[in-house]
Amino acid sequence: MCGIVGVLGNHEVAPILVEALKRLEYRGYDSAGIATVQNGKLDRRRALGKLVNLSDLLVHDPLPGHAGIGHTRWATHGEPSVINAHPHQSGNVAVVHNGIIENFRDLRAELAEAGLTPETETDTETVAMMTRLHMDRGLPPVEAAFKTIDQLEGAFALAFLFDGEEDLIVVARKGSPLAIGHGDGEMFVGSDAIALAPLTDRITYLEEGDRAVVTRAGAVITDAEGRLANRDMQQIEVDAARVDKAGHKHFMSKEIAEQPAVVARAIEHYLQGSDIVLPGDGIDFTKIDRLTLVACGTAFYACLTAKYWFEQLARIPVEVDIASEFRYREPPIPNRTMALFVSQSGETADTLAALRYCKEKADKIVSVVNVTTSSIARESDVTLPIFAGVEVGVASTKAFTCQLTVLLLLALKAAKARGAQSDAELATHLSALQNLPGAINVALGAGDSIRRTARKLSEARDVLFLGRGLMYPLALEGALKLKEISYIHAEAYASGELKHGPIALIDKNVPVIVMAPRDSLFDKTVSNMQEVMARKGKVLLMSDSQGLKEAGDDVWEEIEMPAAPEIVTPILYAVPAQLLAYHTAVAKGTDVDQPRNLAKSVTVE
Ligand code: AGP
Repeated sequence: MCGIVGVLGNHEVAPILVEALKRLEYRGYDSAGIATVQNGKLDRRRALGKLVNLSDLLVHDPLPGHAGIGHTRWATHGEPSVINAHPHQSGNVAVVHNGIIENFRDLRAELAEAGLTPETETDTETVAMMTRLHMDRGLPPVEAAFKTIDQLEGAFALAFLFDGEEDLIVVARKGSPLAIGHGDGEMFVGSDAIALAPLTDRITYLEEGDRAVVTRAGAVITDAEGRLANRDMQQIEVDAARVDKAGHKHFMSKEIAEQPAVVARAIEHYLQGSDIVLPGDGIDFTKIDRLTLVACGTAFYACLTAKYWFEQLARIPVEVDIASEFRYREPPIPNRTMALFVSQSGETADTLAALRYCKEKADKIVSVVNVTTSSIARESDVTLPIFAGVEVGVASTKAFTCQLTVLLLLALKAAKARGAQSDAELATHLSALQNLPGAINVALGAGDSIRRTARKLSEARDVLFLGRGLMYPLALEGALKLKEISYIHAEAYASGELKHGPIALIDKNVPVIVMAPRDSLFDKTVSNMQEVMARKGKVLLMSDSQGLKEAGDDVWEEIEMPAAPEIVTPILYAVPAQLLAYHTAVAKGTDVDQPRNLAKSVTVE
């Protein structure tokens, strides 16, 4: 998604804006630009591609000024190009925007009647033009911006900069996050605290519908009804390590390697002795008859895995939904329902919209997030942090295993509260969890053999993933990891579905990755594998030594995992799936940390 920054500083802001934008690169982008006001004159520099291109441009064509705004663009309306890059300017106002203005065509019609025609294909330019029109008609900058904001429909985080105004940035938030940073005689704005971390740790988050007039003296915030709003200024701990790959070639590699530590941290946080302790008033599972789990992408697969745990361990019926479907299907929410939302960023638009649908309907709104200051976290009754630390790689890895860890702890808590598991059974499961970081460490040791396998896999055009039971969501996640960073077409099926159609895809050119620990369903999966191999399919089997032995010597490739209790295998087997995707992408030379077309946080629907 797009990234926004703004600085009212006491020094040249161009390099500060570019550095802040670099800390937003993880969101994914295709062009970037900045605008400043110098001696009352508004000017911009924009460049296609990575920020290094903008930096190069600024070396040859500097942009002075102590007030400025900046933007990394993830194209929604209009192709990636310099002309479509932000900031967009019309006359004496420049604007940067994250989101989608849904009524920009109607606004364009109004502008055309006033004789103003756009130069770009973007929705954002319309915001600058409308503000300019209001100023041409006599409104001062702030009122012109506010009047424009009143006309906008859709989702947006906006920052406005004006000709002749060297101590003014106007910002607004509706559907896309925006933070204000407090400096000493300086002020900052940004899409999140990460962008502002080198500048300040004193952050005020705008709420939905807020707008603010920012000067070096501070920020005057008004709410959606136009009333003065007093938003807390928080001291934010932003993991400085995020900009450091710790010697790894990619952030993704570093974040895969961090999993033993961050999974252990999540367990330690919630497990006190044999008690699983939740924050605040916690959750009384004796008052809950059903769960609705909602998320997107990898987080959705974490929910799908949790369905098996809650139903098998706690005997609670669970519905799992993709947020973009849930929010428009508007399902009935019966009494005694707990709605749970999983989101690494806590800003995914569809998941946030699904949460808002459940407010006033579900008995309890719970979120499992990595960013505890995010919108989803702030709008939940109970927020369960996953302690993964900042995740920069667009492909989610450590956040996924930490989400699973917290969800399994929650399922065990529910099982205990509902008397669905004996103390001995619970103790066994907790012991499996406590041994998990060590098992993950062993799994990471398979990296070299996986790299060799990945070189072969990188030649494939189509790949199938198969899993059964708890491994079915992991097969889905493995397919997503592979496709999103290596760009190889990959699909996942429940093993039992093979004969219902997908087996028609099998031939010698289609690797079939079978994720199958030697568990209660292993024998069934072995027969699926034999069906594949009988049709010359190439089976790559992920299993433990017992499983690999029983599967025989006909498999094409194998990845050995440590033996582990069935309950934790979904968390453990995420590691080989991540490593396989990572090494395949490296073999293919794709942009592992910022894959094409993808963004780290999908803050627009
Ligand atoms: C995961 O590798 C993807 N980058 C993507 O599917 C992601 O999981 C999804 O967009 C949800 O993001 P969230 O967890 O921040 O809500």
